[in-house]
Amino acid sequence: MDLFEYQARDMFEAHGVPVLAGKIATTPQDARAAAEEIGALSGGVSVVKAQVKTGGRGKAGGVKVAKSADEAQQHAEQILGMDIKGHTVGTVMIAQGAQIAEEYYFSVLLDRANRSYLAMCSREGGMEIEQLAVERPEALARIPVDPNVGIDQAKAEEIVAAAKFDPETAAKVAPVLIKLWDVYAGEDATLVEVNPLVKTTDGQIVALDGKVSLDANADFRHPDHAALEDVAAADPLEAAAKEKGLNYVKLDGDVGIIGNGAGLVMSTLDVVAYAGEEFTNPAGEHPKPANFLDIGGGASAEVMTNGLNIILGDEQVKSVFVNVFGGITACDEVAKGIVGALDALGDGATKPLVVRLDGNAVDEGRAILAERNHPLVTIEATMDGAAAKAAELAAAK
Ligand SMILES: Nc1ncnc2c1ncn2[C@@H]1O[C@H](COP(=O)(O)OP(=O)(O)O)[C@@H](O)[C@H]1O
Ligand SMILES: [Mg+2]
Repeated sequence: MDLFEYQARDMFEAHGVPVLAGKIATTPQDARAAAEEIGALSGGVSVVKAQVKTGGRGKAGGVKVAKSADEAQQHAEQILGMDIKGHTVGTVMIAQGAQIAEEYYFSVLLDRANRSYLAMCSREGGMEIEQLAVERPEALARIPVDPNVGIDQAKAEEIVAAAKFDPETAAKVAPVLIKLWDVYAGEDATLVEVNPLVKTTDGQIVALDGKVSLDANADFRHPDHAALEDVAAADPLEAAAKEKGLNYVKLDGDVGIIGNGAGLVMSTLDVVAYAGEEFTNPAGEHPKPANFLDIGGGASAEVMTNGLNIILGDEQVKSVFVNVFGGITACDEVAKGIVGALDALGDGATKPLVVRLDGNAVDEGRAILAERNHPLVTIEATMDGAAAKAAELAAAK
């Protein structure tokens, strides 16, 4: 999960990283009130900043300095509703205005290729960092960070030395890097980026912008992270699936997919996409997978029912392919889940289901489906046969 700048700011503050005051607003009136309060801390000056999860807000006109509350309101009027790289601005942060002397860059991230962490630091931060990395890579220091040690005093000194800060600035930047590591490790982040990290005219080091990505695999250690989620932006089907604990990703096709095990589901997506090439719907398009849904190992009838309900709730879905290879998962539980979901839907069930079951308790599973003999259910013996049938049914609608 990526955080908004204001969420990163709050997280930085909680870990002792120096930041400026900031307050969010969703209307120009609230922005004005916030600017009165925040501006009072910095000689009446505040900065109105678009809160969208993409970089380059400054260049896009989403970061504007205001010399008065009036001006802040005007900027907010302009920035709220603005589109920045496909993201509509719904919130602005009114930040205290900084007197910037120099802009630096710092980030720490997961370096998968090297099974390590990587810190990057430059004295030349600001809005052109991507360009700097390409044109003058020597100006961007890259220092590996041992996961077992992190950024301690020695590592922080190594980083600021590599970035060639003068000794006085280096001594001020190093402790901030240690605090930023505290954010990274303490919050289980995969990225903490500060661009710019500034030196103000009175010599303070402050994080003026913040980008944080959190590792969802560590959510269980951070119950407080759930509140950071941007619920409004989440796909409603994905949100519903998450609530049920299902591994679901919405895609743009019309053949709903349910399987057990990520590998099987991934190959089911491929097989359906391939089979879809043979069929064309009235709109002239080939059927394609509508989603990824892995019910996991040992799924119960209830999990199967929940999964089917999510998929059948997708308006784009025209047919569903249930592909289960029973290992830990028993096919009779899957069959019970299918029957349960269809019976609960009653007349509301209108989309055809193609079911391929194999492995653990397959005979019991097939027997349950045969006995129920639901008009919408087709049983296929093979994965390829079932994919073709599901694609054919999706194209026919
Ligand atoms: N609180 C602030 N006070 C003064 N200048 C700011 C402030 N926040 C940002 N800026 C200026 O605006 C530029 C862009 O802002 P930033 O938050 O980095 O957005 P983005 O990276 O999306 O362009 C910064 O490089 C800095 O020069
Ligand atoms: Mg920035």
